[in-house]
Amino acid sequence: MSAPTKYLLDESRMPTHWYNIQADLPVPAPAVLHPGTLQPVGPDDLAPLFPMELIAQEVSTEREIEIPEPVREVFRLWRPAPLVRAHRLEKALGTPAKIYYKYEGVSPAGSHKPNTAVPQAWYNQQAGIRKIATETGAGQWGSSLAFAGALFGLQVTVYQVRVSYDQKPYRRALMETYGARCVASPSMETNAGRAILAQNPEHPGSLGIAISEAVEVAATHDDTKYALGSVLNHVLMHQTIIGQEAIAQLEMAGDDPDVVVGCTGGGSNFAGISFPFLGLQLRGGRKRRIVAVEPAACPSLTRGKYAYDFGDTAHLTPLTKMHTLGSTFTPPGFHAGGLRYHGMAPLVSHLKELGLIEAVAYHQNACFEAGVLFARSEGIVPAPEANHAVKGAIEEALRCKREGRSEVILFNLCGHGHFDMSAYSNYMAGKLVDQPYDEKELAMALAGLPSVPA
Ligand SMILES: Cc1ncc(COP(=O)(O)O)c(C=O)c1O
Repeated sequence: MSAPTKYLLDESRMPTHWYNIQADLPVPAPAVLHPGTLQPVGPDDLAPLFPMELIAQEVSTEREIEIPEPVREVFRLWRPAPLVRAHRLEKALGTPAKIYYKYEGVSPAGSHKPNTAVPQAWYNQQAGIRKIATETGAGQWGSSLAFAGALFGLQVTVYQVRVSYDQKPYRRALMETYGARCVASPSMETNAGRAILAQNPEHPGSLGIAISEAVEVAATHDDTKYALGSVLNHVLMHQTIIGQEAIAQLEMAGDDPDVVVGCTGGGSNFAGISFPFLGLQLRGGRKRRIVAVEPAACPSLTRGKYAYDFGDTAHLTPLTKMHTLGSTFTPPGFHAGGLRYHGMAPLVSHLKELGLIEAVAYHQNACFEAGVLFARSEGIVPAPEANHAVKGAIEEALRCKREGRSEVILFNLCGHGHFDMSAYSNYMAGKLVDQPYDEKELAMALAGLPSVPA
């Protein structure tokens, strides 16, 4: 009999705890600094933005943190998510490698983002919060928080990056269906948005700007908190349910990955699939290659500087040490909107500096080509962001073919692209341009990095 295609875990085997990689790091990640004092931030500095439970998770060094039962109850709507052996893609590539993908597109919003939206909404509700402001790039995070807000009775306002707002009207309709309010960013609703529109009324927006707007609203309204869909330690930790399930499913398959691949925007789905495997290694287990794939038009990990920087454009956030292209850098309006962020998660950046992960960058046309091959062999149309992981996995499989090696490759198919079909239409019509990032703008943005004594 041929090897099975799907590996499904019973609901009773859904992980009960998140994995916190901070417990196993050989060197702790650099502290988050207050931009005024340049001293490490404390819980009180973050309290206007986040409920205390999430602040505690942000700095926790406990290895395991329990997933509250009401959160697990919601997760059971779609989790455990399937692990699939990509037999047909392997055949199409003629590779001796075994390719597995963890499919996160089965969630109600169509990506991995509800894995953190649901607990964030839950902790806010438990803290008595009634309103949340957030940003969204691709619309995946905004619709995930809108979904989670609907479950826990929270009013959600989403500042959606202008280019995505224009490219993806149905993501907005989805957010509104869940009851959220969606605003194109930069907007006239905040000081940050008004200042940017005064300079350029046609500004395409960026995640950095949308974050500024949402943070400003939370910081200036007592009844409103802020939620972030990536980058922060607690967000990355919430995603580790992905990798933990994958470990159990690969055990069912009798395989152990040699290479783990994920796409990186802010780093959360990549952390989700890879941190549990890195944890095994850091606790004395076998070394695997862990590969982050980013867009060549916004290459923070491969071309950015490892330095303290702001998380947003208007400089309302604390300073974190990360790979950054500069907080004022506006990436070109390419289609993987969720990957248009100037920085990278501090934990992912730290692991890169420690040599524990690798990073590569690809242009969008090559990623769409990979996504179309995947759709034509496996059936699922990946999100444009996920196409970067597909491309990374295909490159590894083709290397195995050249080298005659039968390695096991695992990648995170972090979302489907059903709301991204205009991007696919543009790709098929030959209208997508592979824009390199603007060296001059990058140099200017990096020149503006805050100066922090070493
Ligand atoms: C489907 C999808 N994948 C990936 C990303 C990038 O975020 P992260 O690197 O945090 O996973 C996004 C962000 O919006 C997304 O929507």
